[in-house]
Amino acid sequence: MKKAIIVGATSGIGRELASILIKNNFKVGITGRRLKLLEQLKSTSPDKYIVKSFDCTAASNTIKLRELTDELEGLDLLIMSSGRGHENRQLNFEEDNKTINLNVSAFTEIMNWSFNFFKNQGFGHITAISSVAGLRGTKFAPAYFASKAYQINYLESLRKMAIKNVYITDIRPGYVDTAMALGDNLFWVSSKEKAAKQIFNYIKKKKDIGYVSKKWQIIAFALKIVPNFIYKRV
Ligand SMILES: NC(=O)c1ccc[n+]([C@@H]2O[C@H](COP(=O)([O-])OP(=O)(O)OC[C@H]3O[C@@H](n4cnc5c(N)ncnc54)[C@H](OP(=O)(O)O)[C@@H]3O)[C@@H](O)[C@H]2O)c1
Repeated sequence: MKKAIIVGATSGIGRELASILIKNNFKVGITGRRLKLLEQLKSTSPDKYIVKSFDCTAASNTIKLRELTDELEGLDLLIMSSGRGHENRQLNFEEDNKTINLNVSAFTEIMNWSFNFFKNQGFGHITAISSVAGLRGTKFAPAYFASKAYQINYLESLRKMAIKNVYITDIRPGYVDTAMALGDNLFWVSSKEKAAKQIFNYIKKKKDIGYVSKKWQIIAFALKIVPNFIYKRV
């Protein structure tokens, strides 16, 4: 039986992925701050889940991951789904700082820990949920978009550093119907169920990058080629 940890399994994409992994015969360590939601999820398959509630921005984050790995008796896959982002047109630093603490600092700590763990054991798979938002800047949530650009580049760097049998998958959703779907004019919104199914397929295929839904690849391509003199007017 394969072992996985999902960081951020209390709600949204992480929670859906947890159910899919269980159906595919994984034993799954689930994390997040809301213990009650983790316990509810565990009650659906008590033998297959191990709960470890912690805040990713707390100093003990990687100690908790180590403990969870020991309780699972191994680790094949770590999925980083925890993230935060809010509109911040007023550029309130307190708000931005919370985003940076989770999406940049804690993200880096968790990526470093899991990469080193998998490198030492000689195999393993990291999957992190970044975003199409990481491809260009925006006027309504600058820190969130910048933090996702950081994640995309960080994951690409890890992929270049990876040894044989260590895989890095960067999942870039457009919009998924969770509390995190930011913006006023949402389009091409995927359900959580559909998003998680697609992500699991990308994981099985050990893809480097996966867009959710697939048609967001078109937007990603357009975002990359549109010249600055046009993009700055949008
Ligand atoms: N939904 C979208 O449209 C969309 C689009 C692109 C990318 N994404 C990315 O997808 C990922 C998952 O988001 P989602 O859409 O599934 O939203 P969500 O339902 O709000 O899930 C966010 C997860 O992050 C966890 N989290 C937040 N702060 C945390 C902290 N300090 N420590 C530990 N865990 C924390 C939450 O758990 P607790 O609150 O229980 O701690 C929750 O499990 C995020 O990285 C997000 O940026 C989402």
